[in-house]
Amino acid sequence: MLPETTPEDDGTTTPPTPDRRPPADRVTLKADLRATLPDASAAFVLTAAVFVFFWARMESGDSATVAVMPFMDDPRTYWMYLLSQAFGWSGLLWAWGTVMLGLLLSGPRPARLPVSRQVLERWHRTTSLTTMALMFAHALMFSAELVRYEAQVGWARRLWVGFADAFVPGWYDSGTGRIAIPLGQGALYLAIPLGLLFYVRHRIGANAWRRLHRFVIVVYVLSVWHTLLYGTNVWYGEWPRTVLWLLQLPVAVLLLLRLLRPARRAERLRAPARPGSGSLPGWVLRAAGRIAAAAVVIGLLAVVASGHDGGRDRPTDPPTSSPHAPETE
Ligand code: HEM
Repeated sequence: MLPETTPEDDGTTTPPTPDRRPPADRVTLKADLRATLPDASAAFVLTAAVFVFFWARMESGDSATVAVMPFMDDPRTYWMYLLSQAFGWSGLLWAWGTVMLGLLLSGPRPARLPVSRQVLERWHRTTSLTTMALMFAHALMFSAELVRYEAQVGWARRLWVGFADAFVPGWYDSGTGRIAIPLGQGALYLAIPLGLLFYVRHRIGANAWRRLHRFVIVVYVLSVWHTLLYGTNVWYGEWPRTVLWLLQLPVAVLLLLRLLRPARRAERLRAPARPGSGSLPGWVLRAAGRIAAAAVVIGLLAVVASGHDGGRDRPTDPPTSSPHAPETE
């Protein structure tokens, strides 16, 4: 234990020094970053595999990206774009995994789990750190591709255009990207504080942290929306788009279960007049959340069953305009 005051040689005393060491059981960002190594490595291996797959599809003439943007028919030139797409997919898959783990931990406790709750919690934290890194790498590679592309202007302008188009909301002003890019930026910029606040929850209070952390589902919804709107590999109404929609079903079901039977008793929805049910507007809001989650499950089932998934028909002739061709194209 530290002494309350430190006697100085001249006889004066210094104010008490607070003990800044975290308690032994507090999870720190540093420790979690170290623990992230295995799943971050797995994510990079997957990214590499997706990159090779997209490259091979371009070489074989099967690339949906090239069908949407014929000028891209050269993986050696557009490799940074392919790498950006690959990071986008690993980012989305990791976001899916970390959201599923979070919902498993906060919803009805399964009778049997293959690993302990502590292990699940650690996986949730490490996969969420990896997700942030993958999302950032995705945007960074897109930015790098724009810098490479703008070869006809000076370096300062190239760097600025690459940075602003990828990272400044509202800057990108071409086609679908005017909506889709800010959606992706919203996801990235929300993910960072909502994910990292966990490590300062002893400062902001566990309740404040819990309330804020709930909004992480918005990050996931924005990510999926961005992908469905902008991903050229899910542009057409073919199997990759169907799989992407299908993957959302377990998330929506777990979200509904988590809202109907939350692990924390205090979050259960009691009849509005009963003690502990909170204010009436609050109760209405929470009931509406449960109804919305049920509607999402039904909506997803309808999309998958009907095939009305927003996918376009693959044209027999290449399109005259592309969704996010650089301005100078
Ligand atoms: C600063 C933020 C972001 C920017 C600038 C950005 C940019 C882009 C661009 C330009 C595309 C089109 C690529 C194509 O031709 O298919 C795209 C697609 C995609 N993005 Fe993002 N994005 C951002 C955030 C995110 C986030 C947070 C996620 C979630 C993990 C994400 C996941 C994806 C996925 C999965 C695709 C589909 C790629 C494909 O079709 O192969 N993006 N993004």
